[in-house]
Amino acid sequence: MYFYGSRSYGDFFNMGEYSRIGYETDRKKINIFDTTLRDGEQTPGVSFNMEQKYTIAKMLYDAGVDIIEAGFPAVSDEELKTIKRINYDMDNICSLARCNKNDIDKVIESDSKIIHLFIATSDIHMKYKLNKTRDQVFESITNSIDYARSHGLTIIFSPEDATRTDMDFLKHIISSIKVETVNFPDTIGIMNPMSMYYFINKIKEFTTTNISIHCHNDFGLATANTLAGLMAGANEAQLTINGIGERAGNASLEEVVSSIYGFLDSHTNIRMEKLYEISKYVTAASGIIPQKNKAIIGENAFSHEAGIHVHGIINNPKTYEAINPEVFGINRRIVIGKHSGKAAIKYILENKGIHKTDDEIDNILKIIKNRDNKTIDDEFLLEVIRNE
Ligand code: KIV
Ligand code: ZN
Repeated sequence: MYFYGSRSYGDFFNMGEYSRIGYETDRKKINIFDTTLRDGEQTPGVSFNMEQKYTIAKMLYDAGVDIIEAGFPAVSDEELKTIKRINYDMDNICSLARCNKNDIDKVIESDSKIIHLFIATSDIHMKYKLNKTRDQVFESITNSIDYARSHGLTIIFSPEDATRTDMDFLKHIISSIKVETVNFPDTIGIMNPMSMYYFINKIKEFTTTNISIHCHNDFGLATANTLAGLMAGANEAQLTINGIGERAGNASLEEVVSSIYGFLDSHTNIRMEKLYEISKYVTAASGIIPQKNKAIIGENAFSHEAGIHVHGIINNPKTYEAINPEVFGINRRIVIGKHSGKAAIKYILENKGIHKTDDEIDNILKIIKNRDNKTIDDEFLLEVIRNE
């Protein structure tokens, strides 16, 4: 059983006997770090205004997110002001900074108590982006950590492009620093679940610090890779609502949290019933509309059309639903279309208080099937009945 406070989510998941195979960890609580307001806002074309940022932060806070990355204060005065405003009301706000004094000062000025310090550590990034040697990068890291620490900040450190960083260099860095959490970004999304599992196990050989992971979705594997990292022993995941973020985006919070309940013997602080509402708000504020067939929050995620499926769902929703949508505070949809059967028509009509004989339903179905293969809305269905 899984609990948020006194609430259990276990009954909402209809998993099978193989669903949990391949998983061994003693990490019972997974921390959820949300970066919708930072990496999510780096989605091409997205920019949240102050009110939208505040509203999203508050929704995430109320939903039980452990750490909210509200932004990158060095980006602009407006960004800094917004983060300061959020910090006034919320106590789990983190801000991003590069490993330099100016960026760290902006985080301090924003009143954030948690700093997310990052610097690239892969050879390709150090050469072509930073123009620094390994020694110089190492020095920037230790100086920045010392400076942030001297200001009492809680430190999350990310070696950017970690999954393309030489493992010996990574080991040298991680075993030399003292921070609350080390986050491993798969910056350009080049991992797969097996390699991520291996990678996190390697990291565990030389650190006992909290391990966080940050996966990008360039191959559509961000959620799977995050889950693999958690299975290997990471205990924090950096995620975004709707999976928005740089390029193909980040691992989506609603997918990863659902997977934690479905596949792992762990729990989070997240109040699942809040996620759909947050997703809708982020869709409106970002203008990025999730694809209809996106897991969990897509319009079709809990819609059923095929006659065989609808028949099963009506008898017992567990026949065709891995997750009961009520866990997100939403209802399943029965959709009428080319593949519908009598059960769906009967179900929809009876829900509207309309009772028809089997012959009448047969007729209605015939008319509907002769209409092109588009989805039939309620209005059309009622019109068919009136004409009958
Ligand atoms: O993808 C990435 O490497 C990042 C870092 C800033 C953590 O977003
Ligand atoms: Zn990122």
